[in-house]
Amino acid sequence: MSQKDIPVLKPDTPVILEMNRISKTFGAVTALVDVSIKLHQGEVLALVGDNGAGKSTLIKILSGFHHPDSGTIVYQGKEVHFRSPRDARAQGIETVYQDLALINDLSIYHNMFIGREYHKRVLGLKLLDNRKMRDLAQTYLNSLGIQIPSVNSTVDLLSGGQRQSVAVARSIYSSPTVLVLDEPLAALGVREGAHVLGLIQNLRRQRSVSIILIVHNYNQVFEVCDRINFLHSGEIALDASTSDTSEEQLIRIVKSGLGRQAIAAAAAEVEASTGSTSTNRL
Ligand SMILES: Nc1ncnc2c1ncn2[C@@H]1O[C@H](COP(=O)(O)OP(=O)(O)O)[C@@H](O)[C@H]1O
Ligand SMILES: [Mg+2]
Repeated sequence: MSQKDIPVLKPDTPVILEMNRISKTFGAVTALVDVSIKLHQGEVLALVGDNGAGKSTLIKILSGFHHPDSGTIVYQGKEVHFRSPRDARAQGIETVYQDLALINDLSIYHNMFIGREYHKRVLGLKLLDNRKMRDLAQTYLNSLGIQIPSVNSTVDLLSGGQRQSVAVARSIYSSPTVLVLDEPLAALGVREGAHVLGLIQNLRRQRSVSIILIVHNYNQVFEVCDRINFLHSGEIALDASTSDTSEEQLIRIVKSGLGRQAIAAAAAEVEASTGSTSTNRL
């Protein structure tokens, strides 16, 4: 799973999604201030930052779950206003939320097909085609190397890691244009985490899906991301490409993350040492 076998994105790769100057408050809490991000076609963008930095809020705005107080979203060249997650999903933006959206007392295969169930007609009646969904789910999860006892099990019998893997598999299965994963590694052990990262790396190799990956601790994911945006106190404090920044430099910047000045100083240091623009690339 080396970074080296995947060519870097060409500089002229088109932008598929832009969130411009998004602000959001919840009562007295300011969650986001003028946050702008850009996602290129086929890119894997990591969104990092401390707890409460506003990461989930930003992607919930993208997925139509929250509405911004101000700011715009431009998707595939057009300004969009997603009214609901269903709306965003219908346009190819698939999100796996941190608080997973699997239904505990439904089977794994039913969960795989929520909102896009297969039906069959029996004596003129429209019935769920359970056999088809069961077979497709089994084949698909096998093909991704996801190990679960049986697709007939209800989700509440799965470990946190298995649930997370099923949720990620489900989102990939829908062939999204933009895939957003909010802390997909949080509940996972080392091996399970590596497996999910492997799935993301495969998608990245194909460059057909554009991915926003929210990670709490990005050590593990440096290899699967093209770019890292660091969100600090509701603002993007750093936008750095992983190909011209070392993991150590980024760790230093994030660790210095107690105040914008410290971040700006550390970012300037990176710029000076790489000779490239790692901030304000937006
Ligand atoms: N629905 C909500 N109502 C009130 N405050 C919220 C809500 N969602 C998030 N917040 C607040 O917004 C800030 C950013 O939260 P969040 O986006 O969840 O951060 P992160 O995902 O980076 O940990 C936090 O202070 C959080 O408490
Ligand atoms: Mg969050």
